[in-house]
Amino acid sequence: MPKLLHLIVACAENRVIGNGGKLPWRIPEDFAFFERSTAGQICVLGRVCYETWPRAALDGRHPIVISRNRSLARPGVTVTGTLIDALEIAETLPGDIHICGGQRIYEETLTLARPMRLHLTLVHADVAGDTFFPEWRHLPWRQLSRRESADGNFRYTFFEMET
Ligand SMILES: NC(=O)c1ccc[n+]([C@@H]2O[C@H](COP(=O)([O-])OP(=O)(O)OC[C@H]3O[C@@H](n4cnc5c(N)ncnc54)[C@H](OP(=O)(O)O)[C@@H]3O)[C@@H](O)[C@H]2O)c1
Repeated sequence: MPKLLHLIVACAENRVIGNGGKLPWRIPEDFAFFERSTAGQICVLGRVCYETWPRAALDGRHPIVISRNRSLARPGVTVTGTLIDALEIAETLPGDIHICGGQRIYEETLTLARPMRLHLTLVHADVAGDTFFPEWRHLPWRQLSRRESADGNFRYTFFEMET
Protein backbone atom coordinates (compact mmCIF):
# COMPACT_ATOMS: atom_id res chain seq x y z
CA MET A 1 0.00 0.00 0.00
CA PRO A 2 1.57 3.37 -0.95
CA LYS A 3 1.56 6.06 1.71
CA LEU A 4 -1.31 8.54 1.99
CA LEU A 5 -0.49 11.82 0.23
CA HIS A 6 -1.05 14.90 2.38
CA LEU A 7 -1.63 18.01 0.27
CA ILE A 8 -1.18 21.17 2.30
CA VAL A 9 -2.18 24.55 0.91
CA ALA A 10 -3.58 27.96 1.76
CA CYS A 11 -5.81 29.15 -1.02
CA ALA A 12 -8.00 32.19 -1.64
CA GLU A 13 -11.61 31.85 -2.77
CA ASN A 14 -10.39 32.62 -6.33
CA ARG A 15 -7.78 29.80 -5.92
CA VAL A 16 -4.79 32.17 -5.77
CA ILE A 17 -1.90 30.75 -3.71
CA GLY A 18 1.04 32.95 -4.72
CA ASN A 19 2.12 36.22 -6.24
CA GLY A 20 5.57 37.12 -7.57
CA GLY A 21 7.18 34.07 -5.96
CA LYS A 22 5.77 34.90 -2.52
CA LEU A 23 2.65 34.23 -0.50
CA PRO A 24 -0.02 36.84 -1.30
CA TRP A 25 -0.72 37.37 2.42
CA ARG A 26 0.89 37.19 5.80
CA ILE A 27 -1.28 35.00 8.02
CA PRO A 28 0.88 34.00 11.02
CA GLU A 29 -1.61 31.43 12.36
CA ASP A 30 -1.68 29.64 9.01
CA PHE A 31 2.08 29.71 8.51
CA ALA A 32 2.56 28.32 12.03
CA PHE A 33 0.07 25.55 11.18
CA PHE A 34 1.97 24.80 7.96
CA GLU A 35 5.35 24.60 9.72
CA ARG A 36 3.95 22.53 12.59
CA SER A 37 2.21 20.08 10.22
CA THR A 38 5.30 19.54 8.07
CA ALA A 39 7.91 19.34 10.87
CA GLY A 40 9.60 15.92 10.86
CA GLN A 41 7.95 14.96 7.57
CA ILE A 42 8.85 14.53 3.92
CA CYS A 43 8.06 17.69 1.94
CA VAL A 44 7.70 17.36 -1.84
CA LEU A 45 7.96 20.81 -3.36
CA GLY A 46 8.99 22.79 -6.44
CA ARG A 47 12.22 24.73 -6.68
CA VAL A 48 10.65 28.16 -6.10
CA CYS A 49 8.88 26.96 -2.96
CA TYR A 50 12.11 25.43 -1.70
CA GLU A 51 14.20 28.53 -2.41
CA THR A 52 11.70 30.87 -0.74
CA TRP A 53 11.11 28.80 2.43
CA PRO A 54 14.16 29.25 4.68
CA ARG A 55 13.08 26.50 7.11
CA ALA A 56 12.38 23.85 4.42
CA ALA A 57 15.23 21.61 5.56
CA LEU A 58 14.95 22.43 9.29
CA ASP A 59 12.78 20.99 12.10
CA GLY A 60 13.43 17.43 10.87
CA ARG A 61 11.89 17.98 7.44
CA HIS A 62 13.27 16.06 4.47
CA PRO A 63 12.64 18.18 1.36
CA ILE A 64 12.39 16.43 -1.99
CA VAL A 65 12.81 19.30 -4.43
CA ILE A 66 11.54 18.93 -8.00
CA SER A 67 13.96 20.78 -10.29
CA ARG A 68 16.33 20.38 -13.22
CA ASN A 69 18.95 22.02 -11.00
CA ARG A 70 20.59 19.04 -9.28
CA SER A 71 23.14 21.31 -7.59
CA LEU A 72 20.51 22.11 -4.94
CA ALA A 73 21.06 18.63 -3.47
CA ARG A 74 22.89 18.35 -0.16
CA PRO A 75 22.72 16.08 2.87
CA GLY A 76 19.07 15.87 3.89
CA VAL A 77 17.84 17.53 0.69
CA THR A 78 16.96 15.33 -2.29
CA VAL A 79 16.50 16.75 -5.79
CA THR A 80 14.66 14.94 -8.54
CA GLY A 81 13.24 15.81 -11.96
CA THR A 82 9.62 14.64 -11.71
CA LEU A 83 6.80 14.25 -9.23
CA ILE A 84 6.63 10.51 -9.90
CA ASP A 85 10.34 10.09 -9.03
CA ALA A 86 9.85 12.23 -5.93
CA LEU A 87 6.99 10.02 -4.74
CA GLU A 88 9.02 6.85 -5.36
CA ILE A 89 11.87 8.21 -3.24
CA ALA A 90 9.42 9.38 -0.57
CA GLU A 91 8.15 5.81 -0.14
CA THR A 92 11.65 4.76 0.97
CA LEU A 93 12.01 7.50 3.64
CA PRO A 94 10.52 7.69 7.11
CA GLY A 95 7.62 10.09 7.65
CA ASP A 96 4.41 11.19 6.00
CA ILE A 97 4.47 12.68 2.51
CA HIS A 98 3.39 16.32 2.39
CA ILE A 99 2.86 17.88 -1.02
CA CYS A 100 3.72 21.54 -0.50
CA GLY A 101 3.25 23.00 -4.02
CA GLY A 102 3.59 24.97 -6.23
CA GLN A 103 0.94 25.01 -8.89
CA ARG A 104 2.11 22.23 -11.26
CA ILE A 105 2.91 19.91 -8.40
CA TYR A 106 -0.56 20.31 -6.93
CA GLU A 107 -2.09 19.88 -10.40
CA GLU A 108 -0.17 16.68 -11.12
CA THR A 109 -0.85 15.26 -7.65
CA LEU A 110 -4.59 15.75 -7.97
CA THR A 111 -4.61 13.66 -11.17
CA LEU A 112 -3.11 10.64 -9.37
CA ALA A 113 -5.38 7.76 -8.46
CA ARG A 114 -4.14 7.54 -4.85
CA PRO A 115 -5.66 8.18 -1.45
CA MET A 116 -5.15 11.81 -0.45
CA ARG A 117 -5.79 14.06 2.48
CA LEU A 118 -6.20 17.77 1.80
CA HIS A 119 -5.21 20.24 4.53
CA LEU A 120 -6.76 23.37 3.08
CA THR A 121 -6.75 26.81 4.61
CA LEU A 122 -9.42 28.60 2.63
CA VAL A 123 -8.83 32.35 2.83
CA HIS A 124 -12.20 34.04 2.46
CA ALA A 125 -11.14 36.72 -0.03
CA ASP A 126 -10.36 37.12 -3.70
CA VAL A 127 -6.74 38.22 -3.93
CA ALA A 128 -4.46 39.21 -6.80
CA GLY A 129 -1.88 36.60 -7.79
CA ASP A 130 -0.16 34.58 -10.49
CA THR A 131 -0.14 31.08 -9.00
CA PHE A 132 -3.23 28.97 -8.43
CA PHE A 133 -4.43 25.84 -6.68
CA PRO A 134 -6.37 23.64 -9.12
CA GLU A 135 -10.15 23.42 -8.80
CA TRP A 136 -10.75 20.89 -6.04
CA ARG A 137 -14.39 21.36 -5.15
CA HIS A 138 -15.72 18.84 -7.69
CA LEU A 139 -13.63 15.96 -6.30
CA PRO A 140 -15.33 13.50 -3.95
CA TRP A 141 -13.86 14.77 -0.65
CA ARG A 142 -15.12 13.61 2.71
CA GLN A 143 -14.74 16.38 5.28
CA LEU A 144 -12.86 15.29 8.41
CA SER A 145 -12.72 18.60 10.24
CA ARG A 146 -13.31 22.32 9.87
CA ARG A 147 -12.29 25.27 12.03
CA GLU A 148 -12.97 28.94 11.42
CA SER A 149 -10.48 31.61 12.37
CA ALA A 150 -9.50 35.19 11.56
CA ASP A 151 -6.89 37.84 12.08
CA GLY A 152 -6.96 41.60 11.54
CA ASN A 153 -6.85 41.18 7.75
CA PHE A 154 -8.54 37.93 6.74
CA ARG A 155 -11.17 35.40 7.72
CA TYR A 156 -10.10 31.84 6.93
CA THR A 157 -11.19 28.25 7.55
CA PHE A 158 -8.96 25.27 8.21
CA PHE A 159 -10.42 22.23 6.43
CA GLU A 160 -9.21 18.67 6.55
CA MET A 161 -10.70 16.37 3.93
CA GLU A 162 -9.93 13.02 2.41
CA THR A 163 -10.70 11.24 -0.84
N1 LIG B 1 -0.44 29.38 -0.41
C1 LIG B 1 0.21 28.21 -0.37
O1 LIG B 1 -0.12 27.29 0.38
C2 LIG B 1 1.38 28.02 -1.30
C3 LIG B 1 1.99 26.75 -1.40
C4 LIG B 1 3.03 26.60 -2.29
C5 LIG B 1 3.45 27.68 -3.05
N2 LIG B 1 2.85 28.87 -2.92
C6 LIG B 1 3.26 30.02 -3.74
O2 LIG B 1 3.36 29.58 -5.09
C7 LIG B 1 4.49 30.18 -5.70
C8 LIG B 1 5.53 29.10 -6.02
O3 LIG B 1 4.94 28.08 -6.79
P1 LIG B 1 5.25 27.92 -8.36
O4 LIG B 1 4.20 27.03 -8.90
O5 LIG B 1 5.44 29.26 -8.96
O6 LIG B 1 6.70 27.27 -8.34
P2 LIG B 1 7.31 25.89 -7.78
O7 LIG B 1 6.45 24.72 -8.16
O8 LIG B 1 7.66 26.03 -6.36
O9 LIG B 1 8.66 25.89 -8.60
C9 LIG B 1 8.65 25.87 -10.00
C10 LIG B 1 9.86 25.11 -10.44
O10 LIG B 1 9.86 23.80 -9.84
C11 LIG B 1 10.14 22.82 -10.84
N3 LIG B 1 8.88 22.11 -11.10
C12 LIG B 1 7.69 22.42 -10.54
N4 LIG B 1 6.76 21.52 -10.89
C13 LIG B 1 7.38 20.61 -11.68
C14 LIG B 1 6.95 19.44 -12.33
N5 LIG B 1 5.70 19.02 -12.22
N6 LIG B 1 7.84 18.74 -13.08
C15 LIG B 1 9.11 19.17 -13.16
N7 LIG B 1 9.60 20.29 -12.54
C16 LIG B 1 8.73 21.00 -11.81
C17 LIG B 1 10.75 23.59 -11.99
O11 LIG B 1 12.08 23.84 -11.55
P3 LIG B 1 13.34 24.14 -12.48
O12 LIG B 1 13.00 25.38 -13.24
O13 LIG B 1 14.46 24.36 -11.48
O14 LIG B 1 13.54 22.93 -13.34
C18 LIG B 1 9.92 24.88 -11.94
O15 LIG B 1 10.53 25.97 -12.60
C19 LIG B 1 5.02 31.20 -4.71
O16 LIG B 1 4.37 32.42 -4.94
C20 LIG B 1 4.62 30.59 -3.39
O17 LIG B 1 4.53 31.55 -2.37
C21 LIG B 1 1.82 29.07 -2.05
